[in-house]
Amino acid sequence: MTQSMVQSPKPHTVLAKIFHWGFIVIFAYAVIKQVGTISDLGDTALLRFEVFFALGFLGLLVARFVYMRLTRPTALPEGTPRMMKLMARAGHLAIYVSLGSIALSGLMIAAVYSMYGPENWMIEPVLWLHESAVAASYLTIGIHISAAVFHRIKGDGIWSAMVPVFKERPTDGA
Ligand code: HEM
Ligand code: HEM
Repeated sequence: MTQSMVQSPKPHTVLAKIFHWGFIVIFAYAVIKQVGTISDLGDTALLRFEVFFALGFLGLLVARFVYMRLTRPTALPEGTPRMMKLMARAGHLAIYVSLGSIALSGLMIAAVYSMYGPENWMIEPVLWLHESAVAASYLTIGIHISAAVFHRIKGDGIWSAMVPVFKERPTDGA
């Protein structure tokens, strides 16, 4: 074995992959069927559904975060430069924070709406929070996908540890 033979990172666990890809389906569903305007919340069944959905979303997000923390948050190998490890950690954390903020601000909208009605002065700021959280999640996910593509081009195995398609061929160092 020579020094230049870099060991391919081990794939993420099946559960990590289910969390990753399953969550994307849930998030896409939420974005597609988003509440149109605040007046839609006059429909009590919709308001209740949104609250349960946001609680489930938050619960799953926390479960996934804890699972990844306890197992292996990144496939980057031991010898990776400290700066790159920090960037990966900060990037992943930013996704969790922005997604969590969407659900929390959504629950704040629901709380203000049901306690004080649609005309209350607090509605505007909580709507702003919700929309900002959505924008932040698009930004962090956009950066994340670019980083994943960067790793695929680099061919260091990080892509293949999580993504089932366009895998690079395993290196002979493995
Ligand atoms: C085509 C789209 C996507 C690709 C190719 C992709 C690829 C990847 C890869 C390769 C990793 C492993 C990184 C590592 O081991 O360090 C990863 C992890 C991660 N991805 Fe994605 N991803 C995509 C979309 C998303 C989306 C939409 C989200 C958020 C909803 C997301 C959230 C995460 C998070 C939080 C991690 C860190 C590990 C974890 O906690 O599961 N990804 N992704
Ligand atoms: C995880 C759960 C949620 C997700 C992923 C989500 C996602 C979104 C998205 C993508 C938008 C469009 C934002 C924009 O156009 O800038 C939106 C708008 C909105 N959401 Fe949510 N939402 C969630 C929970 C909630 C909850 C619980 C409520 C309140 C019951 C709520 C109330 C609203 C309202 C009123 C709007 C329209 C804002 C406007 O008038 O422009 N959302 N949501």
